[in-house]
Amino acid sequence: MRGTWLLLLTSELLWTSNQAGLTVSPSRSQFFKDESVSLSCEEDNSSAGWTVRRNTTRETRAECDEWGQAANSFCSLTGTVPLDTGVYWCESREGAASSSIQLTVSGKIRLWS
Ligand SMILES: *[C@@H]1O[C@H](CO)[C@@H](O)[C@H](O)[C@H]1NC(C)=O
Ligand SMILES: *[C@@H]1O[C@H](CO)[C@@H](O)[C@H](O)[C@H]1NC(C)=O
Repeated sequence: MRGTWLLLLTSELLWTSNQAGLTVSPSRSQFFKDESVSLSCEEDNSSAGWTVRRNTTRETRAECDEWGQAANSFCSLTGTVPLDTGVYWCESREGAASSSIQLTVSGKIRLWS
């Protein structure tokens, strides 16, 4: 019974606020060079215009257009490089931001013989 109430309360909170969460696929934060990653803003309200942004050592609040293939609130990154290491989040047109996720891209491990 208590579980049911908690569930109702949680969905109520999600519906009444205008927010989005960033989903990373595959679901991990460590990647190797040349992998593909897709990032999407799971949103309550698509008219708010969520886009994926990132901070890296070279960029600040850079939109997906500048470093990936953007499609609405979806962003894909093919062929990751170590410079893609950074903090990623979703931001709406009005400046609301989701929580952020740190992604790390490492170079391939080279085995010398
Ligand atoms: C959805 O977002 C738009 C634009 O930000 C806002 O005007 C509208 O009130 C929002 N609707 C809901 C149900 O949150
Ligand atoms: C991104 O960088 C800007 C400028 O340094 C900073 O204000 C902002 O908090 C950073 N965002 C995240 C999610 O770390």
